[in-house]
Amino acid sequence: MTKTSTESPVLFNQKGYDHFHEFLRQENFTKIFVLVDSNTHVHCLSSFLQKLETNVEIEVLEIEAGEEHKTIETCNSLWEALSELGGDRRSLLVNLGGGVVTDLGGFVAAAFKRGIACVHFPTTLLSMVDAALGGKNGVNLGALKNQVGIIKKPEMVVVDISFLASLPPSEMRSGLAEMLKHGLIADEDYWNRLKSLKDLDLTDLEDLISESIEIKENVVAQDPYEKGLRKSLNFGHTLGHGIESYFLENPEKQKLLHGEAVAAGMVLAAYLSTELEGFPKEKRDDINRIITSIYGKTDFTEEDQKKIIDLLKFDKKNEGGKINFVLLRQIGEPVIDREVPNTFLLEAFRYYLAPQEDVDAD
Ligand SMILES: NC(=O)c1ccc[n+]([C@@H]2O[C@H](COP(=O)([O-])OP(=O)(O)OC[C@H]3O[C@@H](n4cnc5c(N)ncnc54)[C@H](O)[C@@H]3O)[C@@H](O)[C@H]2O)c1
Ligand SMILES: [Zn+2]
Repeated sequence: MTKTSTESPVLFNQKGYDHFHEFLRQENFTKIFVLVDSNTHVHCLSSFLQKLETNVEIEVLEIEAGEEHKTIETCNSLWEALSELGGDRRSLLVNLGGGVVTDLGGFVAAAFKRGIACVHFPTTLLSMVDAALGGKNGVNLGALKNQVGIIKKPEMVVVDISFLASLPPSEMRSGLAEMLKHGLIADEDYWNRLKSLKDLDLTDLEDLISESIEIKENVVAQDPYEKGLRKSLNFGHTLGHGIESYFLENPEKQKLLHGEAVAAGMVLAAYLSTELEGFPKEKRDDINRIITSIYGKTDFTEEDQKKIIDLLKFDKKNEGGKINFVLLRQIGEPVIDREVPNTFLLEAFRYYLAPQEDVDAD
């Protein structure tokens, strides 16, 4: 095990619960706060409580489900609740939910009393393979994603695959986007196996999830504070975040999940990669075909495209006013900090929106 992973291990199913219980016995917490959202309250809390073995007093904290509640106002109400319910420096916060709960809960724990212990129990595919790993926590600032936050790992992450049984298919697809991303930036074999995945059956998924976690953990261990390599995990996310923010800001538009926005962002980034890094065109078209077959095409008008590009300058990954992209030279060979002129961005949208036959003919 790497140093980072022993500091904040990621453990599966029963082994995860055993480790968690051992941790509870050692740490003598005064109280355990379990943070859920309105959906994980219904679908995950009772199963979690049944598996929990402890005499420590438990309080459940609930937030409204949804990205629009990943705000400092929600944190504020949780800090007040923690305070009113007698939370102290020896309290533990368990974050039982998807990426919204783990991102926001991680931040709430990191700041309450200057930092209390927290453990993530991710309940969405996306949070299992991505959001709950690597210690990035935080909240949105208006429509701007993850503008306020810190990097601090939880004490551990327990991945209980059985939570996925109640997850809607669109949310499964959203998580799959991050797994596809892991394949594209780190491992062509893994990408090929994901490509041929017929449906999101839990039996096949467990190994694939575990591999995805390994890829992310490995990248984060080499570069925990995102000085270099870790930026490669942002593949598809520069435009993906712009798209996500824009759709969040415009409720009359279709509702786009994080992974769905990132999926479109990866096709756009694959196009930029062929134009600027010599990424093979047939692989770009393959990425386009696979992603479109899973996610369909999102409709972007010309006005949408311009506004999305405008939003990129607020993206936190941009340094000194430049828009930086992660591109690919090959599958498994990312290049970071690439500046891309705006004209290429519009071309990328044109490529994305073109019917697939045109793409193949090109
Ligand atoms: N910190 C990071 O490194 C990182 C990485 C990737 C994404 N993120 C963040 O993660 C968030 C997206 O995560 P997400 O997709 O998990 O979103 P989410 O937390 O909003 O969960 C998606 C939906 O599924 C519901 N849900 C959760 N678990 C369920 C279950 N087991 N059964 C039924 N419904 C369930 C939730 O209530 C919600 O409605 C974004 O805010 C994104 O910015 C963070
Ligand atoms: Zn993501």
